[in-house]
Amino acid sequence: MSLLTQRQYPNTRMRRMRKDDFSRRLMRESTLTPDDLILPVFVLEGENRREAVASMPGVERLSLDLLIEEAREVAALGIPALALFPVIDPAQKSELAEEAYNASGLVQRSVRALKQACPELGLITDVALDPYTSHGQDGILDEHGYVQNDRSVATLLKQALSHAEAGADIVAPSDMMDGRIGAIRAVLEQENLHNARIMAYSAKYASRYYGPFRDAVGSAGNLGRADKTTYQMDPANADEALHETALDLAEGADMVMVKPGMPYLDVLSRIKRELQVPTFAYQVSGEYAMHMAAFENGWLEADTVILESLMCFKRAGADGILSYFAKRAAQLLNR
Ligand code: PBG
Repeated sequence: MSLLTQRQYPNTRMRRMRKDDFSRRLMRESTLTPDDLILPVFVLEGENRREAVASMPGVERLSLDLLIEEAREVAALGIPALALFPVIDPAQKSELAEEAYNASGLVQRSVRALKQACPELGLITDVALDPYTSHGQDGILDEHGYVQNDRSVATLLKQALSHAEAGADIVAPSDMMDGRIGAIRAVLEQENLHNARIMAYSAKYASRYYGPFRDAVGSAGNLGRADKTTYQMDPANADEALHETALDLAEGADMVMVKPGMPYLDVLSRIKRELQVPTFAYQVSGEYAMHMAAFENGWLEADTVILESLMCFKRAGADGILSYFAKRAAQLLNR
């Protein structure tokens, strides 16, 4: 009998291994633990303030005092890191985003306070100008409204350095300018910040799944009807994502990211398989919003679907997932 015939039914019954919990556990290929999760959070000026984000039910913008309490809970759940995003007062937004590198700006102050309160919790900061620009783009515009690469990089550098000097463990450029990883790495080395890690948003697509995030940080109104297609990637492309990611690694990225998440698992899988580096995925605001809409209508069962969605990132090759469900998932996983 040939091997092929032996391997057919009834010699082979795929359901045998599925029969009991013990054998399902033995053959499980991927695992999901709180170690795999990163929680994105939104920080506001002021004290004792919490604001709901209408398009992201269950997500709140928090003032720093409340965020510190949240950070302690997150650390206690075993989640390794937070990703911090600021809600900037419209009066502090400008054409050139000078507030982005203010050493006593909201992010820089928050980083110092969070690292003091919760030193063991990794802190990731977003390097991009969109919360700070009056036009809502991630970089600096020329007279035609085009985002200028090298001029933007010069400002992003200052922003990244101010984050690392404040104590950020990981700076995460999400701006998609060319050459920014190399420029940031060089300045960090020069300033003796050798262990400041860079998580590059390498394969970041020009996605409309970011809509609720832009509401959360208050950049949607500034951006208006404009889009980010001249610097973020075309959703039609995957080879280009490998090219982008390889460049970011050559320039000094320690970790790379694919964003959005669930519609881009093919890209994640290829990057992990071909480049074999620490690879992260971002289950973005629109993915969160879609899930929540279904949960709130009783169309999907929340707890199991959340864990399934996150496990699928692991199966596709993610080393970690940024998700607004991180806290709820960790609570479920710790039960
Ligand atoms: C800013 C940034 C965005 C997100 C993370 N960093 C929005 C954008 O590029 O417009 C989106 C995150 C999400 O949707 O959850 N550069």
